[in-house]
Amino acid sequence: MVPKLILTVILLISVTVTTADYLRPQPRETLHFQWSPKPASYPQQVHISLAGDEYMRVTWVTDDQSSPSIVEYGTSPGRYSSVAQGESTSYSYLFYSSGKIHHSVIGPLEHSTVYFYRCGGQGPEFQLKTPPAQFPVTFAVAADLGQTGWTKSTLDHIDQCKYDVHLLPGDLSYADYMQHRWDTFGELVQPLASSRPWMVTEGNHEQETIPLLKDGFESFNARWKMPFEESGSSSNLYYSFEVAGIHVIMLGSYTDYDEQSDQYRWLKVDLSKVDRKKTPWLLVLFHVPWYNSNKAHQGEGDGMMAAMESLLYAASVDIVLAGHVHAYERSKRVNNGRSDPCGAVHITIGDGGNREGLAHGYVLILTNLHYKEPQPEWSIFREASFGHGELKIVNSTHAFWSWHRNDDDEPVRSDQVWITSLVNSGCVAEKRHELRNVLMAP
Ligand SMILES: [Fe+2]
Repeated sequence: MVPKLILTVILLISVTVTTADYLRPQPRETLHFQWSPKPASYPQQVHISLAGDEYMRVTWVTDDQSSPSIVEYGTSPGRYSSVAQGESTSYSYLFYSSGKIHHSVIGPLEHSTVYFYRCGGQGPEFQLKTPPAQFPVTFAVAADLGQTGWTKSTLDHIDQCKYDVHLLPGDLSYADYMQHRWDTFGELVQPLASSRPWMVTEGNHEQETIPLLKDGFESFNARWKMPFEESGSSSNLYYSFEVAGIHVIMLGSYTDYDEQSDQYRWLKVDLSKVDRKKTPWLLVLFHVPWYNSNKAHQGEGDGMMAAMESLLYAASVDIVLAGHVHAYERSKRVNNGRSDPCGAVHITIGDGGNREGLAHGYVLILTNLHYKEPQPEWSIFREASFGHGELKIVNSTHAFWSWHRNDDDEPVRSDQVWITSLVNSGCVAEKRHELRNVLMAP
């Protein structure tokens, strides 16, 4: 008994010592949103998303179910030379009934151009900037946002950055069945999401299933419609889009991904359409990371990784961005658990600021009676802090990635790296035949 007790005490002390370095901020409270009366037809929760080359989808909500789904727009303030007629939807969830959710696609639009627009024929004027036709392109990246004081910091810091498109690999509102939180989240992000396209994919917090009553993702799909039809997908849970010389694939961690699944089949078709001469960069986003040395959600991505990693490797994916784990981690180029110069750089950035707080602990192993948190060979940088990322694709061969920690409410660039494209390193040409074989396999 005594040796066992001593051993336990030693182990506890060791764990305390090895985790004591992490003096990270506490979670912050969910924000309180003041209710302010507005006319029933007043456009709320305005956000935009890319909807095919030269087109943008404008989404907003009105309390008035008869409000028209029109967007007036033009390149001068207050002068709208074009009008787009859209569609609308709404949904009920137990005792909650949503407002009228409008989706209108505007375009064709010029690249790198500011447009002024108005929703539903009234209300305030918004402005958006379309992405450029050529490099450089800058993405802001943040996941697991929620709507806390830390979320506000992250959004404020993103607002200070000059970016073209926001990428969000899952976990938006943390509504978690409380439907009015989708509305408050829409209001919180409106200043940013109405001016730059927000491209999102689903996380576990979007999956609001009630057995026998509600399928998951009803609220998410109704409110955050993405260009899945435009990219040949049958589901809002996975799709692709292109910006300048970049092909971006948004996958779903919470829908079927095995080789017989619709998602897998769609992914093969989508990859077969990618022309690396036109889009030398290939990015993939999904929610649950495959390379994760944090204790949180350890191993949860293994099934999807086993099903899809060889396909993504054959396709020479440059960068994979994931969320879910509330800490930041960046890998070397990896494949099949090991460093590989033709593998993808995996970045976990599930630290946007949600109410659950940070994931402080890393995977422990027992060595000489001490628990340690050894950083895996493939892991370059890891830190449990809130923050956001910026990915500047400078040209067809080079990109600059930086991660900005919310340190005492100031953005601090804590990690940065130049990334060379796999086109430039010769991997794409080297694996051309391998990719063709994989894509042609039944
Ligand atoms: Fe998550």
